[in-house]
Amino acid sequence: MDLERLLSDRLAPAFATVAGGPVDPLVRRSPRADFQSDAALALARRLGRPPRDIAADVLRHAVLDDVCASAEVSGPGFVNLTVADGALARMVAALAGDDRLGVPTTGTPETVVVDYSAPNVAKEMHVGHLRSTVIGDAAVRLLDWLGHRVVRVNHLGDWGTPFGMLIEHLVDLGEAEAADELSMGDLDSFYKAARGKFDADEAFRERSRRRVVALQGGDERTRRLWRLLVELSERYFLTVYDLLDVTLTGDDFRGESAYDDMLAGVVADLDGLGLLRASDGAACVFPPGFVGRDGEPLPLIVRKSDGGFGYPATDLAALRHRTGELGATRLLYVVGLPQRQHFAMVFAVAGAAGWLRPPARAEHLGFGSILGADGRMLRSRAGESVKLVGLLEEAVARATELALAKDPELDAATAAEIGRAVGIGAVKYADLATDRGKDYVLDWERMLSLDGNTAPYLQYAYSRIRSVFRRAGTDARPDAPVVLAEPAERALAVELLGFAGVVAEVERTLEFHHLAGYLHRLATTFSAFYERCPVLRAPDGLRESRLLLADLTARTLRQGLHLLGIRTVERM
Ligand code: ARG
Repeated sequence: MDLERLLSDRLAPAFATVAGGPVDPLVRRSPRADFQSDAALALARRLGRPPRDIAADVLRHAVLDDVCASAEVSGPGFVNLTVADGALARMVAALAGDDRLGVPTTGTPETVVVDYSAPNVAKEMHVGHLRSTVIGDAAVRLLDWLGHRVVRVNHLGDWGTPFGMLIEHLVDLGEAEAADELSMGDLDSFYKAARGKFDADEAFRERSRRRVVALQGGDERTRRLWRLLVELSERYFLTVYDLLDVTLTGDDFRGESAYDDMLAGVVADLDGLGLLRASDGAACVFPPGFVGRDGEPLPLIVRKSDGGFGYPATDLAALRHRTGELGATRLLYVVGLPQRQHFAMVFAVAGAAGWLRPPARAEHLGFGSILGADGRMLRSRAGESVKLVGLLEEAVARATELALAKDPELDAATAAEIGRAVGIGAVKYADLATDRGKDYVLDWERMLSLDGNTAPYLQYAYSRIRSVFRRAGTDARPDAPVVLAEPAERALAVELLGFAGVVAEVERTLEFHHLAGYLHRLATTFSAFYERCPVLRAPDGLRESRLLLADLTARTLRQGLHLLGIRTVERM
């Protein structure tokens, strides 16, 4: 049961009567009452009436008696709502008996394709890929839990001209040596060595060019060497996913090469639709509304002047495959903001071609950069991009050390388990708790702090509740009568009833910082409750009710963190 939604549903018909048409009551949490509706203010001009009059009129029409203890006009024309204790207690009791914590599965399941992670073969994953992987994983978990059919797509960069030089370098090294280097995760040095020879050596360059032609032409030995490069890289990426604790598997790789044989058809179809224009020997689409700095229309190049197809053509083919073959109606692309224009143009062209038609829609979930302590793009000391595995290992090592410092008695296995959950959780949470579009600074101290809006704080709050139950020696009884006498109990109840609303919002926006913010509020509200309301020492009846509230809090924290891809531990 979503409290905010319930109140909104109760006010909506009243507003509709007063305004003579549908109105969103704009219900939100209020500092003065439990909730407030701001819609009367927005209506005042349209109706030519003072907002307080409108609000009073709405209250005359609204049916609220069974839910609200008081409903009144306040200030310039807000409607302030205080929920009745009895209604709150009833709803909390219903929550306690619900495995899904009040969150219904969707009434309109759809096929959602989530395009995320997408590193490049024979290249190290960088922090941008970390963000894509973490955000994409959260999207997948949430949409899946709500009952959508989710297709994970790892749009691996496994095709294109660089493979000429990469394969030639592989041949020079020998397969065994190359396999060694790549399986150690030494992707960058492999790539750089290939690049170095390509830049310095004309003969190598020529071999590389011929190799690209052989690859495109389907030459068998070349294909095999290419597959080897792809497989070695995939194997390495899977170790990173494992360390990162994300749900991506080997079956989710569907690299750029998978669309290769569709590219000519895509371009031919665009041509047939009259959308193509030649520009400097390249075949381009000029979607309306896209202009460069000079005011000139911007092209989406679908076939280059050398006859090759590139990144845009591949994305068009992939999109058509997703809406056509996979029947997806929601397409998500979790890719950094620098590619915003690329996706806007791809979506516009796909729309014009009829490959992306309502109800199908595509969303670019862009994200900002991770910055170093100096406020600039995160770099290693040598000025190179930071190796992702190194960063994750450091997180785990630091968290393990902190766990041992806090409790030197911990045995090694438990310390390692806590270190992994907390270290990886801290990295993911720091990412998901920030507004996706913004940059953020990788700050170990803050990320791993037990105070503030961090994973360790939430994980600790969870483990603390679990320790209450260990001491109680019982589980909560989900059918225990709920008593809400103290303000701190009421506040906790209201917070617990907000989970469904937040999940519904994140389903729409995929802005996970709202879920993170909610979990943090829930944990601080619990902490205030726990300070003021003794649980184990409470008299019979009250004790069971408080145990139920504590258990609901723990379950909500665990489920919420799970949706973010973050583990909880029973003690820490
Ligand atoms: N491989 C690309 C990169 O590393 C990201 C691909 C994103 N997905 C897509 N469909 N274009 O930048």
